Amino acid sequence: MFNARAYAAASATSPLAATRIQRRDPTPTDVQIEILYCGICHSDLHTVRNEWSSIMPTVYPCVPGHEIVGRVTRVGSAVKGFKAGDLAGVGCLVDSDGTCPECQAHVEQFCPGAVFTYNGPDKHLGGRTFGGYSDGIVVDERFALRVPANLDPAGAAPLLCAGITTYSPMRRQGVTQGKKVGVVGLGGLGHMGVKFARALGAHVVVFTTTAGKREDALRLGAHEVVVSRNAGEMAKHAGSFDFILDAVSAEHDVNAYIHLLRRDGNLTLVGAPEKPLPVSSFGLLFGNKSLSGSLIGGIRETQEMLDFCGTHGITSDVEVIPIQKVNEAYERMLRSDVKYRFSIDMASLKAE
Ligand SMILES: NC(=O)c1ccc[n+]([C@@H]2O[C@H](COP(=O)([O-])OP(=O)(O)OC[C@H]3O[C@@H](n4cnc5c(N)ncnc54)[C@H](OP(=O)(O)O)[C@@H]3O)[C@@H](O)[C@H]2O)c1
Ligand SMILES: [Zn+2]
Ligand SMILES: [Zn+2]
Repeated sequence: MFNARAYAAASATSPLAATRIQRRDPTPTDVQIEILYCGICHSDLHTVRNEWSSIMPTVYPCVPGHEIVGRVTRVGSAVKGFKAGDLAGVGCLVDSDGTCPECQAHVEQFCPGAVFTYNGPDKHLGGRTFGGYSDGIVVDERFALRVPANLDPAGAAPLLCAGITTYSPMRRQGVTQGKKVGVVGLGGLGHMGVKFARALGAHVVVFTTTAGKREDALRLGAHEVVVSRNAGEMAKHAGSFDFILDAVSAEHDVNAYIHLLRRDGNLTLVGAPEKPLPVSSFGLLFGNKSLSGSLIGGIRETQEMLDFCGTHGITSDVEVIPIQKVNEAYERMLRSDVKYRFSIDMASLKAE
């Protein structure tokens, strides 16, 4: 084992603070990665504050972070796909049993033995897994991704969660040219959703509560922007969408978006608010509409998404911050004051 620097929360109400954690020495199939950048996902905040206590209670200390890009420093003797010096990514998953039907279907996130990058059961050291707010991580090479060399590593880090979480449902729902696609909530996930929908050829409409994001939404690739608090603007789009991706982190009215779907249209929730959202069944009945959820994506599809980003030159729009600003960044994220993802420069951790 070796020591790594990290930022951890000691309880649901404590700020994140510098600490030391233990990482395992690489097994024959592991890669050791020096973390260069880690994105800040709203799920980090939900977990640190134990907002998902009824589904996945947080065990403290908690080191969040699952949008990791770094440099491989060491590989186990049986590792085939990586060598020291390679750029590598780690997303939300670090392990699965590799044999069950879900793993065979390449949706390891649904494996009964899936281990999330943080707050998951650590099979090697006991206790809980520690995530990417750290200067190093050790993972089985099955869960390390290749990051295209033409992508800026700070902007590529958020692809490992925000990227795959928006790419996967769009591919599954057949987003393509000629489709009208809505993206609700222009945050970390939402702005990636806009970029993917545009790159896939759809007509893209952003729904935002923040009127000041209008220009940005258009620059990011939206064809139209609707300020969702404006009932008149909403009404113009009634019954017209093939697909809407809802990436909102807090309570809001999903029925208003179901109303905007055309016959057979689909609304997929990727946002994971703390409290349940009321749904009117009549909104779905009239028009044979469907409401779905989507959880990140499997490893194979995550690699496909990264390669797609390499081909199309897609990265996240990031504000790079030192780790010492992480608590302030959480408060700003809650105020929707982030354009459009914080990416932590892990070099700043050397000062701790
Ligand atoms: N399904 C998955 O696998 C998965 C993966 C990652 C994250 N998530 C979840 O997805 C959600 C979004 O994550 P994120 O990192 O993109 O968060 P984020 O950057 O904070 O973005 C959330 C956006 O939601 C909108 N919003 C916030 N509060 C709102 C409210 N009260 N009413 C209406 N809109 C509101 C804001 O957009 P506007 O200013 O444009 O209105 C905000 O920018 C979180 O719940 C996160 O845990 C799920
Ligand atoms: Zn995430
Ligand atoms: Zn499995």
